[in-house]
Amino acid sequence: MEVGLALGRGGQRFFDRIVLGDISQAVRAGEDPLGEIFQLIRPAAARRQQGAIYTPAAIVSAMVGWAEGMGKFDRVVDPGAGSGRFLIAAARKFPTAELVAVEADPLAALILRANMTQAGLIHKARIRIQDYRLVDLRPIEGRTLYVGNPPYVRHHNIAQPAKLWFGKAAARLGLKASKLAGLHVHFFLRTMELAQRGDCGCFITAAEWLDVNYGSAIRRALLDGLGGYALYVLAPKLAAFPESMSTAAIVCFKPRESPTGIQIKPLSSLGELGDFEGARQVPRAELARTPRWSVLVRPGPMPPRDYVALGELFRVHRGQVTGANDVWIASSETPELPAAVLFPAVTKAAEIINSGGEITNCSRLRKVIDLPLDISELDPEWRVVISRFLTWARAKGADRTYIARHRRAWHSVGLYDPAPILATYMARRPPAFALNRCAARHLNISHGLYPREHMTARMLRALVTWLNSNVALSQGRTYAGGLVKFEPGELERVAIPPLASLQS
Ligand SMILES: C[S@@+](CC[C@H](N)C(=O)[O-])C[C@H]1O[C@@H](n2cnc3c(N)ncnc32)[C@H](O)[C@@H]1O
Repeated sequence: MEVGLALGRGGQRFFDRIVLGDISQAVRAGEDPLGEIFQLIRPAAARRQQGAIYTPAAIVSAMVGWAEGMGKFDRVVDPGAGSGRFLIAAARKFPTAELVAVEADPLAALILRANMTQAGLIHKARIRIQDYRLVDLRPIEGRTLYVGNPPYVRHHNIAQPAKLWFGKAAARLGLKASKLAGLHVHFFLRTMELAQRGDCGCFITAAEWLDVNYGSAIRRALLDGLGGYALYVLAPKLAAFPESMSTAAIVCFKPRESPTGIQIKPLSSLGELGDFEGARQVPRAELARTPRWSVLVRPGPMPPRDYVALGELFRVHRGQVTGANDVWIASSETPELPAAVLFPAVTKAAEIINSGGEITNCSRLRKVIDLPLDISELDPEWRVVISRFLTWARAKGADRTYIARHRRAWHSVGLYDPAPILATYMARRPPAFALNRCAARHLNISHGLYPREHMTARMLRALVTWLNSNVALSQGRTYAGGLVKFEPGELERVAIPPLASLQS
């Protein structure tokens, strides 16, 4: 098959350009045609498993430009170098530096070698086709710059030995290791082990680590050992990672220094990288006591003094994940089941958005199948029927999903208790809230709000009305493409007026 055909229409256009153009001239002009082709021919799903999403040229150039302001470097290391975008850009700024590429994928490394050759840099490059976590770098007399875009691979796709490595590395560095940490966190820790005083680092990653529990290893490392220096959160319009729609953060560090604070700044244009105007020097003590750093990026206006955080009155809990909605949400295909295992549930955000603030009729909702952990608890007359259902569910692979393998029993979804208030949390509109009057269960498309103490239906209704007109998009986290997500913790931080004032 012609390469162009195999690449599809976008690829065909690219291919024509490449054939007609001159690859080496393009590389010398700072383009990366081979890297672009690599991204077209390697399916997106395979690249996601390796975290192989290459960095747009404008971002590479802004980050390397930032590094130039940090002085001269004798060596540049790019962990997970891909096609070599960072190294080639850095070589222009630091012409005497040795270039070290660490890349685990042999095909990407081949492209990197071709690019380095075309750019006339191969003589000073060392290409290590190796796992960055296992790479050893000899110490040098001068200064090393660590720059790049560590692969974002979620913990589900990280093999057990690598997780063990991470646990041990974290222990060596005095950090807490979460089993949920992604590969990018591993890269930060390896950099912390390799880097010397006087070195510098600048990495771009998804901004998620600022807030999530597993990100505490990076947050702590930046305060103790990795020497956090500046943190920029990119405006969604800069679309650093257009494929994943996630917000990006660029973090710069001076290893082995003890920072008294970190410059934090939201970035609306790449030209502002390295310019501290509008940045806030957040003191170390504030960073250490703030569990989620995104609030430090854009501190909102202070709420009135008598307001309290929603989380003081409610626990916010994301709904249950089934692992295979086509099996666990009953449909016309589902084999017969007793009513005792079928639970009306909110399974789509639209059911909350279109409810007018109250879900009153559970019979309109789809039913989620939730079998007990111990199936022998069910009435013996249903045994045959249940076993027929389980055979069907297994045939559809419902026992082999990641979620099914990691819950107490693959066959038991484990729905949470009905939450008196349900809320959407990911949309291009503010979250919608609904009073759950028919005790519907909820899946992970919504959060459940559970009162910490008894509340009357009147109080709950008044609060839902207030939340529906007062929770603004700006209080959540914005993703490229304009999606706004409210994690449970973000919803718990929403300030609400005293409930008594709402009912009057
Ligand atoms: C986000 S891409 C960045 C590529 C390049 N630095 C850029 O910014 O365009 C991450 C790269 O890390 C590589 N990678 C994934 N796991 C790795 C590992 N354990 N060790 C070294 N490289 C790895 C991937 O193959 C991919 O090329």
